Amino acid sequence: MTEAPLLSVSSATDALNRVFGYPSFRGEQGDIVEHVIGGGDALVLMPTGAGKSLCYQIPALVRPGTGVVISPLIALMQDQVDALRTLGVRADFINSSQDLDERRLVEAEFVAGELDLLYVAPEGLGTAAVQRLLDRGRISLFAIDEAHCVSQWGHDFRPDYLALSMLHERWPDVPRIALTATATPATRDEIATRLQLTEARHFTASFDRPNIQYRIVGKNNPARQLLDLLRTEHAGDSGIVYCLSRASVEKHAEFLSQNGIPALPYHAGLDARTRAANQSRFLREDGLVMVATIAFGMGIDKPDVRFVAHLDLPKSLEGYYQETGRAGRDGLPSTAWLAYGLQDVMQQRRMIEGSDGDAAYRRNAARHLDAMLALCESVTCRRAQILQYFGQTAPDTCGNCDSCLTPPESWDGTVPAQKLLSTVFRLHKERNQRFGAQQSIDILLGKRTDKVSRFRHDELSVFGIGSDLSETEWRNVVRQLLAGDFLAVEPNHQTLALTARSGEVLRGERKLLMRREVATPRSSRSGSRGSGSGSAGSSGTKGAAPVELSGEAAALFERLRNWRGATAKEQGVPAYVIFHDATLRAIAALAPATLAQLGTVSGVGQSKLTKFGDAVLATVRGEEPAGQSPEVSSEEPSAGPPVAPTAAAGFSADVPASLFPSASEPGAAPSSTSRSASPPQSTPRSSPSRPSESRPSESRPSTSRLSASRPSASRPSASRPSASRSSASGPSRPGWSGPAASDDPDLPPLPPEPDEDYDPYYEG
Ligand SMILES: Nc1ncnc2c1ncn2[C@@H]1O[C@H](COP(=O)(O)OP(=O)(O)OP(=O)(O)O)[C@@H](O)[C@H]1O
Ligand SMILES: [Mg+2]
Ligand SMILES: [Zn+2]
Repeated sequence: MTEAPLLSVSSATDALNRVFGYPSFRGEQGDIVEHVIGGGDALVLMPTGAGKSLCYQIPALVRPGTGVVISPLIALMQDQVDALRTLGVRADFINSSQDLDERRLVEAEFVAGELDLLYVAPEGLGTAAVQRLLDRGRISLFAIDEAHCVSQWGHDFRPDYLALSMLHERWPDVPRIALTATATPATRDEIATRLQLTEARHFTASFDRPNIQYRIVGKNNPARQLLDLLRTEHAGDSGIVYCLSRASVEKHAEFLSQNGIPALPYHAGLDARTRAANQSRFLREDGLVMVATIAFGMGIDKPDVRFVAHLDLPKSLEGYYQETGRAGRDGLPSTAWLAYGLQDVMQQRRMIEGSDGDAAYRRNAARHLDAMLALCESVTCRRAQILQYFGQTAPDTCGNCDSCLTPPESWDGTVPAQKLLSTVFRLHKERNQRFGAQQSIDILLGKRTDKVSRFRHDELSVFGIGSDLSETEWRNVVRQLLAGDFLAVEPNHQTLALTARSGEVLRGERKLLMRREVATPRSSRSGSRGSGSGSAGSSGTKGAAPVELSGEAAALFERLRNWRGATAKEQGVPAYVIFHDATLRAIAALAPATLAQLGTVSGVGQSKLTKFGDAVLATVRGEEPAGQSPEVSSEEPSAGPPVAPTAAAGFSADVPASLFPSASEPGAAPSSTSRSASPPQSTPRSSPSRPSESRPSESRPSTSRLSASRPSASRPSASRPSASRSSASGPSRPGWSGPAASDDPDLPPLPPEPDEDYDPYYEG
């Protein structure tokens, strides 16, 4: 049962070129990879989408043994493993979604040294069973992905990450690499301390994502503003819209759908199967918009997300940057757009004040919010501010954010600020009353509303002294005072109160420069999608403009896309697992005539060349690549008629039916939401949070098809000789005492991983 690695790699560069098909490392990748191959520990900070995975995948291929990846992304493990197998990498995973037979097979592969990479959930790694399993194989390295999950301050906190410091104690000779995209100096220190990585070498990449255009607009009618953005600048694009609450997610998904933009909801209140199905569709189809709470998105490697829109204010710059970073992983121009208004500030301030957390928690939350607010209110380059927040130096202007593209006017808001603060002061001092923002504004504008008359606020000396500004302008003044902590919101009643800093403004000790709202917040730069490439230019991510395609090449690109769509559907994987758009574009521009030429394109590694090379060349020649996967049809009557490549144009439209479990599928049985209700063994393959679960059973063998050349990687569980293996290794014993442990009928179940993590603070 031993099998030579499909791809024996001699060096890091060899793995990069032949397995992944990339010509060169990005930024610090090369140094990190060399360091880990040499046995060193590393803490890696790189922005979202910059390429952290290669930093452990390549060392795992080069070093002897299996790389063990600890990842909280249960719902993505199947996709990650499928993507690696398409590259010819022997990868598998262990988590609570598996039935015992499946898990035994994976364990046997690991013990036999047949895996390059093994993904495990942190909850599983915490069990004695998995720890003893790991003792029985050879481990090349531990990769702790999404390492910020160890931070108790963060919204991604996973308690089982805290126990990972034991890796070092139990396997002191195995190098560890921790990776995260959350990287203020404080978080970095917290990760290093908690994971005992203070001695590790720290690598901090540039956090710039030059291809993302940052824009923050005043919120007036957010749904309309969003629709306008999508129609004018992102028609037909894939994107993510983040909302604060579940209700808002539902409402906006519905709104977009009604307006002809295909949109799906995603939040922790949906049942797990719907979530998994929606995530799976988003990954597989083109041009879908995912409307979601922050429960969605971590680790999603969809390369062509063209925009990330926020309809509500994120509570920290860390979260915001991670969420927006999901745009443009392919390096092509993308938009990060945020609509922000007075209500956002009121709401967030109130939530912090009213939270159950202790004083330290509230201080910390307020500090994070302040940084986010400062970004929103700033009149200077957004990117420069973000990078400085992450402790990095940046040029004063980037050329690819709203502040740089249309420099905002600032105006001296000191006197209006004094008027507003003194209104709040007088209401409190003279009347012993507290009111919300609207009443103060009505007083300043001299409006004789019912409420004004009832409370005789027209008798206040400040009544009508603010008629020089419009109501909108006054709302902006309030917002900017709240953002700067010159004004506070009381948690219970949303009323305004002075702060320790109000005096500075009232006494004239502080001048307040305010950002003037542009009348039409929507950018008139809809033609600027190619303009991102000339920006800040620091390394770390590619900020390349798309390869320009001539008429003929553009036609070829479309044919290649059709071929890719059909192939992806056949294999049951997302299209980008076959080839990224950027790779298809490069192929279309080159129009290769030979496999050797095709192999020079970035993104075409050895395994993909073998699997898809002939079909791609046939497509380039204008032929129908009929024999693209001869191994498919004969043995799988259930897979339906072979998909003609020309039919692939309709791929995105008809995916859903084939992706979801049919009623007859055993795993589709009772509501998969309540995993705690039954122990994992008795719910075969009922993985609520696993997208693969929503695939039909017939798509499962796709992986084996992909790796048909590698018998050990295929796993139609019925045909796997697990029975004969167990008899070969003697009668099974209880517990985990012997070499046959993985065939033990009493294999202890893994603890269930927590459901999609979500933040009650956000979603409550
Ligand atoms: N050297 C390289 N050349 C070309 N493409 C690369 C290179 N390194 C990584 N990529 C591509 O960049 C994309 C993002 O990589 P990856 O998934 O590792 O990001 P990440 O840093 O883990 O992001 P996240 O924080 O979202 O998890 C992938 O599609 C990957 O194939
Ligand atoms: Mg990652
Ligand atoms: Zn800028």
